[in-house]
Formats: sequence, C-alpha cells, structure tokens
Amino acid sequence: MAPAAIWSLPCDFSSRSVQKVGAAHYATSGSGSRVQRTPVISAPHVRIAIEGNYGMAVNDNGPAPRELAGKRALVTGGSRGIGAAVVRRLLEAGAEVLTTARSAASPVPEGASFVAADVRTRSGAQALAAAAEERLGGVDVLVHNVGGAQPHGGALAIPDEEWQDALNLNLLAAVRLDGLLAPGMRDRRSGAIVHISSAATPTVAPPFLHYTAAKAALENYSRGLALELAGHGVRVNSVSPGRTATPGGEATREQWARISEGPGVDNTRPPLGRDGRPDDIADAVLFLVSERASWVTGSGLVVDGGEFPRG
Ligand SMILES: NC(=O)c1ccc[n+]([C@@H]2O[C@H](COP(=O)([O-])OP(=O)(O)OC[C@H]3O[C@@H](n4cnc5c(N)ncnc54)[C@H](OP(=O)(O)O)[C@@H]3O)[C@@H](O)[C@H]2O)c1
Repeated sequence: MAPAAIWSLPCDFSSRSVQKVGAAHYATSGSGSRVQRTPVISAPHVRIAIEGNYGMAVNDNGPAPRELAGKRALVTGGSRGIGAAVVRRLLEAGAEVLTTARSAASPVPEGASFVAADVRTRSGAQALAAAAEERLGGVDVLVHNVGGAQPHGGALAIPDEEWQDALNLNLLAAVRLDGLLAPGMRDRRSGAIVHISSAATPTVAPPFLHYTAAKAALENYSRGLALELAGHGVRVNSVSPGRTATPGGEATREQWARISEGPGVDNTRPPLGRDGRPDDIADAVLFLVSERASWVTGSGLVVDGGEFPRG
C-alpha cells in the first residue's frame, strides 16, 4: 500500500499518547487488541503522520464524540412524526431529552423523558418549563416542533376559534415557552433554539391561510428573537419542512383532498423525487443546534426537496 503523509495540527493528538520508540515517535490510539501505532514526525507547528493508506481517517479513535454530550434538550411534540425523529437524533448525539405531547399515554423514543402538556395554553407552557427545570435543571437546546391546522373551504370559511387555535399552536406556544426558558440560556450565555416552520409560508393557499399566516409570523418572530439574543450567546433559527411523511402531514393532505382541488390532491413529487422523511428534518435541526452551526443565527433553513423554490 502506498504511504501517505497526512498533515495535522498538534491538537489532533491531544487524546492520545505519543511514545518515543527508537528514533521515531509513535502516536498510539485505542486499547487492548485495537491499539494502533502511527509514526509521527514532530515539528514546532505541525506533525506529519505516515500511514499506509490515503484518506482522512488517519487513526481509529473509535466512535466520534457525541456532539451534544452534556446538553439538555426540550422538544415539543415528540411522540410521532418530525418531533420523534428530532428526539432520536438529539439522543443519539448524547443529549438528555425531555419531550411532550398532550396524552399521558403517548409513546416517545426510548431514552427520552416525557411530560404530558398542551402547549397551546399558557398553563401548558408553564407546566412544561417547570418540568424542564425540575428534571433537567434548565435547557441548552429548545426545539419547538408542535404545529399544524385543518384546512377549510376558503379563507373566509376559517372560523374565528380555528384562527385562535392556529395562532396558539404555531406561534404563541413558541413565544410563551421561549419567554420562560430563553432567559436562563441568556444568563448562562449559551443556548440554541429552533422553531419548526413550514416551506409553504411564501404561498397563500386560502384554505390554509390561518396556518401559513401563523408560521410566517413565527419566522418573523424567530429572526427578531435571534437579533435580541445574539449578543448573549444564544442562537435562534427556524427550519421549514416541505411535505414530509408523518401522521399529521398525511392526515392534513387527505382532508385537504376531500374539500378541494388544492395542493392536497397534488401527487407530484418534489423535484428531488420523493417526499421528505422525518429524519431529513431532524438532521437539519441537529446541525443548527450543534457547534457546527456556531456562526448561524436568525436564519431559516428550508428542507423541502426543492418543492418551493425561493428567489
Ligand atoms: N409533515 C409535514 O408535511 C410538514 C410540512 C411542513 C411543516 N410541518 C411542521 O412540522 C411540525 C411537525 O409536524 P408533523 O407532521 O410531524 O406533526 P404530527 O405528525 O401531527 O405530530 C405532532 C406532534 O405534536 C404533538 N402535539 C400536537 N398538538 C400538541 C399540543 N397542543 N401540545 C403538545 N403536543 C402537541 C403530537 O402529539 P399529540 O397529538 O398526542 O398531542 C405529536 O407528538 C409542525 O410544526 C408542522 O407544522 C410539517
């Protein structure tokens, strides 16, 4: 196998020991039968590791560190669909996760803790924030996932109480919970908030206006909160899914198909050839709450397979 010279900064070796063997130095990694030794040439500012193969995986250090280890996360609506996928991704990344849905009997991904709460109400938000303080001791990551609405025959057919409900579920639930939990993040000068919006906000389909108007307001609010918290170490972003295969998404599209010839009966696939999967959205959320997005705030990440092209 051809030898390769791989340049790396000294800090790459911080977790390994460097031993002197004869005239050479070796970086060792792993333990027991998995110990590997890599010849290293030291210089004041760089080291060169000589290996028998090309590529970035110079040494086998075992699994990558879990990037959210030590973080405490709250995800609303984690019993199914996108919320459950987000919970799983955050758990896999090492976070401690608390999630919620309305029914105490809701199934949630293994490893997450759960509290039943209706986040449409002020008392529900307060109960959830109290549970987060009590069980986690505060939150570092807050993902507002709950949302949705039922389509109607047209804009003027949407009853007043459904407007109220859509605003409570898609906008005010996040505003209230942020109001209760973001001050703790600000005081600790650390935190990441993600609001789940919708890729459909630039469109104005009358049967769904209460939903898109509430989500558009959520995006506007999200950018403004990001501005306010940017100087305090807290990042705020939104993720806008396109049509994603979830129980809530499918039920809404079926209902829309029954009442109109609108997008609910459109069986064409997004340009990337398939509907979204909950994990597609969860991956975007994981990126935004991780240190990899440490210079990203006030942004909206559209994850829709190209369904709603934007200028
Ligand atoms: N799926 C899509 O195609 C799509 C597209 C664009 C945007 N989105 C957005 O993505 C987010 C998730 O959508 P989804 O399709 O995954 O939804 P979903 O399948 O309907 O799941 C919603 C989750 O939220 C919980 N929930 C609903 N109302 C709640 C309340 N008042 N208080 C507490 N928990 C509540 C549900 O549990 P319970 O019902 O048991 O309470 C469930 O866990 C929403 O904000 C939605 O607007 C989805």
